[in-house]
Amino acid sequence: MVLKSHLLLLLPSTVLLSAITTVASKCAAGVLPTPSVFGASVLTLDAVESTLESTSIDFCNVTLTYTHPGQSDLIKVWLGLPNAWNGRFQGVGGGGWVTGFPSEMVSAISQGYAAVSTDGGHDGFGEIADSWALNSPGNVDLYALQNFASVALNDMTVLGKQLTEAYYGNPISKSYWSGCSTGGRQGLMLAQRYPGTYDGILAQAPAVNWEFIAAMFWPQWIMQQIGYFPPQCELDAITTAATIACDELDGLKDDIIGLTGQCDFDPSTVVGQEYACSNVTGAISKEAAEIVRKTWRGATNAEGVLQFPGIAPGSPLGGIVGTTCDASGVCTGKPFLITTDWHRLFIQKDPNFDPYNYTRAGWDASFHASVQQYTSIIGTSDPDLSEFKNSGGKMITWHGMADQLIPFNSTVHYYNRVLGLDVNTTDFYRFYSAPGVDHCRGGLGAAPTDPLAELVSWVEDGKAPQTLAANRTVNGTGWKKELCLFPLSSIYKGGDPAVASSYLCE
Ligand SMILES: *[C@@H]1O[C@H](CO)[C@@H](O)[C@H](O)[C@H]1NC(C)=O
Ligand SMILES: *[C@@H]1O[C@H](CO)[C@@H](O)[C@H](O)[C@H]1NC(C)=O
Ligand SMILES: *[C@@H]1O[C@H](CO)[C@@H](O)[C@H](O)[C@H]1NC(C)=O
Ligand SMILES: *[C@@H]1O[C@H](CO)[C@@H](O)[C@H](O)[C@H]1NC(C)=O
Ligand SMILES: *[C@@H]1O[C@H](CO)[C@@H](O)[C@H](O)[C@H]1NC(C)=O
Ligand SMILES: *[C@@H]1O[C@H](CO)[C@@H](O)[C@H](O)[C@H]1NC(C)=O
Ligand SMILES: *[C@@H]1O[C@H](CO)[C@@H](O)[C@H](O)[C@H]1NC(C)=O
Repeated sequence: MVLKSHLLLLLPSTVLLSAITTVASKCAAGVLPTPSVFGASVLTLDAVESTLESTSIDFCNVTLTYTHPGQSDLIKVWLGLPNAWNGRFQGVGGGGWVTGFPSEMVSAISQGYAAVSTDGGHDGFGEIADSWALNSPGNVDLYALQNFASVALNDMTVLGKQLTEAYYGNPISKSYWSGCSTGGRQGLMLAQRYPGTYDGILAQAPAVNWEFIAAMFWPQWIMQQIGYFPPQCELDAITTAATIACDELDGLKDDIIGLTGQCDFDPSTVVGQEYACSNVTGAISKEAAEIVRKTWRGATNAEGVLQFPGIAPGSPLGGIVGTTCDASGVCTGKPFLITTDWHRLFIQKDPNFDPYNYTRAGWDASFHASVQQYTSIIGTSDPDLSEFKNSGGKMITWHGMADQLIPFNSTVHYYNRVLGLDVNTTDFYRFYSAPGVDHCRGGLGAAPTDPLAELVSWVEDGKAPQTLAANRTVNGTGWKKELCLFPLSSIYKGGDPAVASSYLCE
């Protein structure tokens, strides 16, 4: 018999030990019941008593494999069941082409969550999709893409929840999703397509509006069209100039652009200005200025209509405007591999295709094809979250305004469409802006300190976060800040810039 986990703290240690032993002895293949999910067939189930190296937490490490009969897939699910369970369940998201990471489960397990993740049926590491995208040249493995996009996320949740409740002999109190980038997109996909699977969803810097993956190649294609690949030092000089010009729009000179939407800095105004790095010096060219202007503006079609918004001024340019130079100073493009994959494997379905070779019409056709063929599978842009809302779900998104890979404005675009359908969106879904923060983390701006804890407090205590607590390190000193609920912006009001009360959301 297994004791209720929330009673464990009240019991003498001898009883506690015997309770834990009882749970641990269930950690064996053949003891745990085989779980099931409609449309899938479980193939193997392993369970091994383990200890997390970093935190010495004891847990049961469950690995299962399953297939969708007829689809020739083989999907792995990882489940971590801590001996000291907090009664909650957490789905852990992936990144890039990775559907889920066992390594990212460590913090959830350490905090007492039963944590689940999945490989989605493919190896996503190395940012290259060649091993799984095509069944043969010309033929995309749509089932593999669908597993990555949505189906495997629901499967792992259903399977993981059954095993968790069987293992502890108790119902799960609340379920949470946590992820960034691909993990953020997965959170929104679950809210859109599988409402009710999670009580709380933390969908950070989400890769929603999937056509952005096609648009990510835009700066590389523009460099090819212009016939110039600037050294990073030249590109960085333009970012520095923009930051100097727009830094104080939010009232504080702190080396970041707080109000990116109001920064109308024109790169052509710094053509001729000298730049210098250790291995390269020069003057900003009109070509580089044009490349950066078009990157910030975003991808456009032949008529100049916006296809997808660009990254904001102040964002590092090395992510999607990447270049690399040889010893003689000749530079070539260094694209972000996921966008190259998307054009080669998914849009053109030809591993040898080179997206630098698009003509103007070819670029527009490829963007259109990406939207036409893949929005229903992985677009993750459905603004109708009413079922999620009605199931009682709560969701938090925050996005770094200096995100160098997924434009901040992509989330703005999605959230505005959600607001357009439901004026009371903030009752269940809140979006916060993080000035100066790069993709998921990094950058000079203040990043959220513990957004999952704020989500748990909203779900379990009904405390909707007005702002998200965040911090940053400025010249060796810790500064605190509160991230504002979109569409408000943080404005400096005077006083010590290291304390949150010196700023207001307006
Ligand atoms: C659980 O075991 C699998 C297979 O050995 C391993 O890859 C994974 O990292 C383990 N999970 C954790 C959280 O340590
Ligand atoms: C950090 O120190 C550098 C060098 O002294 C200075 O230029 C910069 O403005 C400082 N940053 C802030 C936010 O005060
Ligand atoms: C984002 O979109 C808004 C309009 O929705 C626009 O005003 C702004 O310039 C765009 N760019 C940035 C970096 O915010
Ligand atoms: C300068 O050095 C950096 C870092 O090693 C390198 O990435 C870059 O390509 C070099 N640039 C030139 C023009 O040699
Ligand atoms: C791209 O174009 C270049 C030059 O026009 C050509 O040499 C190359 O073969 C093309 N690559 C592909 C994959 O079509
Ligand atoms: C929004 O919430 C208010 C207050 O709860 C309610 O009166 C109103 O009907 C809601 N509007 C919509 C469109 O749901
Ligand atoms: C910011 O918060 C994180 C998470 O709580 C913490 O690890 C970090 O030390 C804090 N940094 C500063 C500068 O206070």
